Amino acid sequence: MQELKYKTIDLATKEDKQAFNKIRDNAKYRPLFHITPPHGLLNDPNGFCFYNNEYHLFYQWYPFNTFHGMKHWMHLTSVDLIHWNEHGAKITPVESYESHGAYSGAAFVEKNKAYLFYTGNVKQGLKRDANQCIALLDEDNKVNKFAGNPVIHSVPHGYTGHVRDPKILKRDNGYFMLLGAQREHDMKGTLLVYQSKDLFNWEVLGELEIQVSGEFPDAYMYECPDLLNVDGNDVLIFSPQGIEPQGHRFHNKFNVVYCIGQLNIETLSFTVNHWDELDRGFDFYAPQTLANAHDTVSNSETLIAWAGTDDELPSAEYGWINCLTLPRTLAVKEKRLYQYPTNLLVENKHCVKSKMNISDTSVLNSTLDVNPLSFIVEVNGDLFRNEIEFSLVSESGRKLQLNISGNSIKLSRENYDHHMIDWPYGNKRVCETDYDINDITFVCDQSIIEIFINKGRDVFTCLFFPEEEKHRLMLVNKKEIELDIKLTYLTK
Ligand code: FRU
Repeated sequence: MQELKYKTIDLATKEDKQAFNKIRDNAKYRPLFHITPPHGLLNDPNGFCFYNNEYHLFYQWYPFNTFHGMKHWMHLTSVDLIHWNEHGAKITPVESYESHGAYSGAAFVEKNKAYLFYTGNVKQGLKRDANQCIALLDEDNKVNKFAGNPVIHSVPHGYTGHVRDPKILKRDNGYFMLLGAQREHDMKGTLLVYQSKDLFNWEVLGELEIQVSGEFPDAYMYECPDLLNVDGNDVLIFSPQGIEPQGHRFHNKFNVVYCIGQLNIETLSFTVNHWDELDRGFDFYAPQTLANAHDTVSNSETLIAWAGTDDELPSAEYGWINCLTLPRTLAVKEKRLYQYPTNLLVENKHCVKSKMNISDTSVLNSTLDVNPLSFIVEVNGDLFRNEIEFSLVSESGRKLQLNISGNSIKLSRENYDHHMIDWPYGNKRVCETDYDINDITFVCDQSIIEIFINKGRDVFTCLFFPEEEKHRLMLVNKKEIELDIKLTYLTK
């Protein structure tokens, strides 16, 4: 078992490869537009950048089984952030400084060089250590580890072995690295900052103080920090572990927080004007943003996340587990962070099969067939004046349901019986809005649905595993207020 857990892909046998092909060929539960692992387990997105006229994305990948094992970096490229080409493992942890996995990290692109920063995870018995490393992506899509690795050896004094997930920032006075960390003295989560003049030599500066009025939830570890500027605002994103539910927020095993405010790198502080949970659904963790959005034609800040939170999922029976969310374009409006699917809704002859406009009240309180299960439904109207129920119903009557009543939104997958995913965190998520709901976009793709309220002011990510192929979308519109509904099928 231990041997399998830490096996690297270069040691795959003929039998392993046959098993991989079988898994790859089975389409059960496989989304068409959401990235899934060909076989094995996927978790965090890594190294997301634009380089050599393409988008590059990597993810944490354990190829041999659906549990967490030796993490590799799988590599994918795309020109439109919708269609992806898979290139296999590009960081395989075979060196002693990464003996137990090439853990997460981010890209940094400068002067036509793409640096991939990552954490070399090391375990010795029960002890864990972490080294920060660099690999360089070249124009032939090859990835070469830096010969001088690790660039940061071990963890600084006062922190446990849980120091990881580097994110690089550039400021006038040099380069800065943010790392997720755990303090030794109180076992609490924090963010560490290092500084460098050349990207290769780093010195620790200390912790980033998150200055917030009121209480900020306690966590035992902060993972996957990210920091970017969106529409003139600094936005800090990270994944704290171990926070308690607060009202309708933070009901997942692991949750993600965003803070809008100002970074002061001189004083190592981030002043928060507003903070919140980043996604209101069930399955969303470890997001990462595009390293160099300003190099792209669209110049838009883009985020992608792991859709999953460490649970056993029904797809494990078919040899793979977890997917990524769609890339989401970020914006800050009315001091809130908005996220909306990038490019997918643009007229695109490759993925739109047919469109249906339904603006006639006679279809209200009725049903629509939605087969195959990869589609977008856009709903527009005074939803907040209404009492509305959208259900995605399978042939045998399994339901995924979204209810809107005034300013309250409830998403339920209770009818799906996914005990292993919903226990003990529950099968409903609720969001009370402080704005009028007038727009919903559902993006459904086989075993994942992403629901965007008011063009992404609130978003619910939800996995579900329908046994049958045929589904209907049912709408109960209690007050019969006119809605504009558009259905778009997606096809590869
Ligand atoms: C987040 C995380 C990271 C780590 C990686 C290991 O999901 O735990 O902190 O680098 O996954 O796969």
